[in-house]
Amino acid sequence: MKKMLIAMALLVNVYSAMAQDVAIIPQPNALKQTRQSFALSASTPIQLADENFKGAAVFLNGYLQNYYGFSLPVQNAASNKQSIVFSVQKSLSAGAYELTVANKAIEIKASDAEGARNAVATLLQLLPVAKQQPLTIAGVQVEDAPRFAYRGMHLDVSRHFYSVAQVKKYIDYLAYHKMNYFHWHLTDDQGWRIEIKKYPLLTQIGSKREGTIIGRYPGTGFDNKPYEGFYTQEQIKEVVAYATERSITVLPEIEMPGHSMAVLASYPQLSTTPNIAKKVSTTWGVFDKDNNVLNPSEETFTFLENVLLEVMELFPAKYIHIGGDECSKIWWEQSEFCKNLMKGKNIADAHALQSYFIQRMEKFVNSKGKQIIGWDEILEGGLAPNATVMSWRGVKGGIEAAKQKHDVIMTPGSHCYFDHKQIKNEDSVTIGGYTTTEKVYSFEPVPTELSADEAKYVLGAQGNVWTEYMNNFSKVEYMIFPRMSALSEVLWTQKKQKDYTNFKTRLAVQKQRYQLWGANYFKGNLETEK
Ligand code: ACM
Repeated sequence: MKKMLIAMALLVNVYSAMAQDVAIIPQPNALKQTRQSFALSASTPIQLADENFKGAAVFLNGYLQNYYGFSLPVQNAASNKQSIVFSVQKSLSAGAYELTVANKAIEIKASDAEGARNAVATLLQLLPVAKQQPLTIAGVQVEDAPRFAYRGMHLDVSRHFYSVAQVKKYIDYLAYHKMNYFHWHLTDDQGWRIEIKKYPLLTQIGSKREGTIIGRYPGTGFDNKPYEGFYTQEQIKEVVAYATERSITVLPEIEMPGHSMAVLASYPQLSTTPNIAKKVSTTWGVFDKDNNVLNPSEETFTFLENVLLEVMELFPAKYIHIGGDECSKIWWEQSEFCKNLMKGKNIADAHALQSYFIQRMEKFVNSKGKQIIGWDEILEGGLAPNATVMSWRGVKGGIEAAKQKHDVIMTPGSHCYFDHKQIKNEDSVTIGGYTTTEKVYSFEPVPTELSADEAKYVLGAQGNVWTEYMNNFSKVEYMIFPRMSALSEVLWTQKKQKDYTNFKTRLAVQKQRYQLWGANYFKGNLETEK
């Protein structure tokens, strides 16, 4: 009797340990727990039926190696061992998957590489956080598919620079959350971060600044510490290959016509004021007092086309982000060249001149078979015919673009800016704003102003990480976790299944995973304080 009681107690323990571990973020569409379980060890083979799923196997093995210290053999042939079996199921939609964990096998079905990757992202969350051998995985049947096609995170590497290893880690974080777009903000006033072979000064001069202000803008002083960094084209290729293997599309952003001080420090002839000395910015903000705007001259267009030719070679994505935000118009309004250009081309004002600028660049990008994305300022003065709009100044730019039948990605400052503080009394320096995890979770990317037909233009949403006040990668982690976990559920989970209280229960387990990854994260109050 005593033995039986002990055995029963053990069973209950095992079962409750398993039950506690089934905490998946983002919440799947359908998840049924069974009483089966799978014992994963270093000898468990991965069986791939399709070359297309190789990346998902690499993703799984990378995770096991990084956090549990072993990886699994990959084979094509069937095995009579307990295996992880990937197979193709054509009827599943893009990114969708089915996952069954049973005593004898783990079965993963998907119609595309991203679906298999998403299945692995769920499987990783079924692994016990403790590094036991074998790893006991709770029995489940999962049927799952994304709500939105674009599920993104942005990272500004201009204000502060992160190593290739850190960028790869960031990409892993996206993949763990079933996200599929990495928006890489590669250029800005404070540093140009991508090697362009035709214009070596962009990195020789444009990737370096003399120092940085101390503290929050306007700063309490200047640190006088030279700051620099850029990615070689080989490194860019390495990151893109790493992301592609994990079903993440890398969206490069090359800012124009504003936010171009690093370009103008390198090639001052592209400015409307070429005789005024320029240097890579050492402070933050939007400039009216310094001219950081490209001149809409033929020389500038040739320069930008040559830059984009190299960029398009490096990034297989169908989109190129060309910025378009916060371009001060005073420099064009004061320029004789611009006044003559506007007169000659019948361009009404400086907003229309920006539209002319963006439309020219769009034509070039389209001629190479790619499409542009721009911040919502590209609506001003008339939207370029095929442009996708990233709505950041609230959702109204997104609404306007969708009504004009343009694709939209929502990134409103109110819910998607992870540079904002996340607790009222934040100790570390941030740009300001106040966006709690609860607020991120409450975000609905499809505004009620849109009809069902217009809503189809909302491709998804993205979290933005501007890094003025993130001078190390640990701070980036602190700012994204757990807000990015909340956003992943906004983007993936069906609206009717979202439940903040339930999310918080799962987040308790997710926090153990942040620790397993060695990631920093915000540990304070997740809700808005009055
Ligand atoms: C932006 O935050 N300037 C897009």
